[in-house]
Amino acid sequence: MVLQLHKRVMALAGVVMTVYLVFHMLSNLSFFSEAAFTRFYDVYNTGLIRWSVLLLMLVAIAIHVKVAIKIRKVNAKARTIDYAKHDKFKIPAFLVTLSIIFLFGFIVIHIIQSLLFDTSALYEEVTAQFQSAPMLLFYLAGLLVLTMHLSHSLANVLQTLGKTSVIYHGLVWAGVLALTGGFASVPLYIYFVMP
Ligand code: HEM
Repeated sequence: MVLQLHKRVMALAGVVMTVYLVFHMLSNLSFFSEAAFTRFYDVYNTGLIRWSVLLLMLVAIAIHVKVAIKIRKVNAKARTIDYAKHDKFKIPAFLVTLSIIFLFGFIVIHIIQSLLFDTSALYEEVTAQFQSAPMLLFYLAGLLVLTMHLSHSLANVLQTLGKTSVIYHGLVWAGVLALTGGFASVPLYIYFVMP
């Protein structure tokens, strides 16, 4: 019962973050027009919008991580015998844990970088950031792990809702790839196409 409640709270925080991610990706696509990007972020960075969004995201991340750790602890205690290894392609548990720690680190570093940006020259700041190959690789790695995490967790949500068909899974993959592909397009464009 308590575990079910925890799972719901975690899923709710996940949904809040996913909605933000769709909004953030779509607004980042405005980068392909410097005027549109600057106009959007000028409004976004005025007043309390940016700080309210940031606060909401920090609270959602904190809840999501805290509840995830709690659920893991409860599951580990309840399971005295390990699952049978019937799936040949299952990713080892320690790699899953490492990838989630990396994703968390990626988000924290990205937020710190975004706070250090000079908001009066955001277009130039983002351009300069992705002219560096290590930064491009770091973001692509973060987006790859985000793709795996979202596709896995959204498939779990669908399963809880009883939607297990191939069509639903295909839709989840298409949505996740559109999201992370949209994000990746900006650093890739800056690094490979911009002069
Ligand atoms: C690679 C593509 C990405 C680009 C180009 C990008 C760009 C930006 C920029 C320019 C800001 C500062 C906005 C401002 O000054 O108001 C920002 C903030 C932020 N980004 Fe990203 N971002 C990317 C990917 C991501 C991803 C994948 C996540 C989460 C998993 C994320 C989460 C955030 C958060 C939480 C903030 C702070 C809140 C806000 O200012 O909206 N970003 N990002």
